[in-house]
Amino acid sequence: MIKNSLLLFAFLLFGSLCFWQCSAEKKTEMAENEVVEKDLTRYPNEDSELALLMRGMYEDTEKIQKALKEKRLPEDFREKFKKMHSAKPTKPEVKDAAFEGMGNHFLDKVNAVYEAKTQESQVEAFNLMVNACVSCHQVVCPGPIKKIKKLTI
Ligand code: HEC
Repeated sequence: MIKNSLLLFAFLLFGSLCFWQCSAEKKTEMAENEVVEKDLTRYPNEDSELALLMRGMYEDTEKIQKALKEKRLPEDFREKFKKMHSAKPTKPEVKDAAFEGMGNHFLDKVNAVYEAKTQESQVEAFNLMVNACVSCHQVVCPGPIKKIKKLTI
């Protein structure tokens, strides 16, 4: 009984930390039209290496999406995305075996985008890559999911 409530407590604590950490992203989404405020709320000094990398990855994925829509070859971000394994997160406990597994799964999907031979299969691979962003976020950081899903072609 005590064990169960401890587990529940730990679960709730973890959940609320995730919520706190990732709800900042929702605020910036709402303020997206208020141009001046945006940079201040998006780039406060205490942001972790991983959070900064992720923000960059979001923008890079937008660039890949744009290139594919225009039937151009996307810029190669593979080396940059690999840094997610070494970048320091806001909460160290996020970087566990599950993160590593989901991270590798994601990087495989990124590879597939660059290895696809036709425009059609590249778009397909790209959508699977975006799904892999979402899968990891469902576990570690649900805040930006809605925004990430919009990257799908
Ligand atoms: C293996 C897990 C994983 C994958 C894959 C992943 N993310 Fe993340 N993402 C995280 C974690 C963990 C954080 C929180 C980082 C922190 O606060 O230190 C995060 C944070 C973010 C943020 C919020 C950054 C901020 O604080 O402002 C965005 C946006 C984001 N990710 C977009 C993406 C996109 C786009 C992809 C795919 C191209 C992606 N993520 C793939 C785990 C992942």
